[in-house]
Amino acid sequence: MTTIPSVLVTGASTGIGAAYAERFARRGHDLVLVARDIARMEALAARLRQENGVAIDIIQADLTKADELATVETRLRDDARIGILVNNAGTAIGGSFIEQGTDDVARLVALNTTAVLRLASAIAPRLAKAGEGAIVNIGSVVGLAPEFGMTVYGATKAFVLFLSQGLSLELGPKGVYVQAVLPATTRTEIWDHVGADVNALSNVMEVGDLVDAALVGFDRREAVTIPPLPDAGQWDAFQAARQAMLPNYRNELPAERYRTSA
Ligand SMILES: NC(=O)c1ccc[n+]([C@@H]2O[C@H](COP(=O)([O-])OP(=O)(O)OC[C@H]3O[C@@H](n4cnc5c(N)ncnc54)[C@H](OP(=O)(O)O)[C@@H]3O)[C@@H](O)[C@H]2O)c1
Repeated sequence: MTTIPSVLVTGASTGIGAAYAERFARRGHDLVLVARDIARMEALAARLRQENGVAIDIIQADLTKADELATVETRLRDDARIGILVNNAGTAIGGSFIEQGTDDVARLVALNTTAVLRLASAIAPRLAKAGEGAIVNIGSVVGLAPEFGMTVYGATKAFVLFLSQGLSLELGPKGVYVQAVLPATTRTEIWDHVGADVNALSNVMEVGDLVDAALVGFDRREAVTIPPLPDAGQWDAFQAARQAMLPNYRNELPAERYRTSA
């Protein structure tokens, strides 16, 4: 791995991924951009090469298609220059669960979870062997809140959070940093895809602010970064409450309240 590793960013054609690409290019990292819209990535790459003098490769891939996803996996496995993976590509769909089509939710799960998992799995052994590198997974606060009414999307983001926390525990001691970033409402095109007018929403974070904050968490090596949450102590208390239950799960007998009387 070079001193300044290359960064592979998925979903780099627009939104949060494009902002990550810009920020890492400014920091002097070479990039590999991945998404479906090649024209947008070429325009971004041309600008970032000119502004920052970095090398940028582009892989056009639909990450819901196994063969195209495999191309990105192979690149992550084989290209030792890539030391940081930003697992950002993701989408959302509108409607309630019974309104959403079965194929549509399955495709959502494929992009938001399977692709994230396969790409992390492709790069992790190499990073662990090198004893350095980072995997950044973009989750969402929706993954903490079934109350927000985006059930399948939230379930995929709960997966991303759990995967990130588990990988952080597994890979951290091997020198690999794993970060989950949990944005809330951020001004990107994702809202067009769910059929919502982002300009009609309140408390919308600008994408540059979101990514700059996420990178503060990255530089601090935070396991979980929630840019919009004002009081970090609330997250710490939530983790402490979860961890307090851990010693109580292993029991020979069901809890008293579930025992049927003889
Ligand atoms: N914006 C928010 O309010 C918000 C809040 C919480 C979390 N997030 C998360 O942040 C991440 C980025 O979202 P965003 O808001 O930046 O959304 P966005 O503006 O819609 O951008 C999504 C990116 O993913 C790519 N993408 C979509 N489908 C793909 C596919 N099948 N294969 C490969 N690439 C694909 C898109 O590029 P192409 O169309 O060119 O493929 C685009 O570059 C997502 O994981 C999202 O869930 C967003």
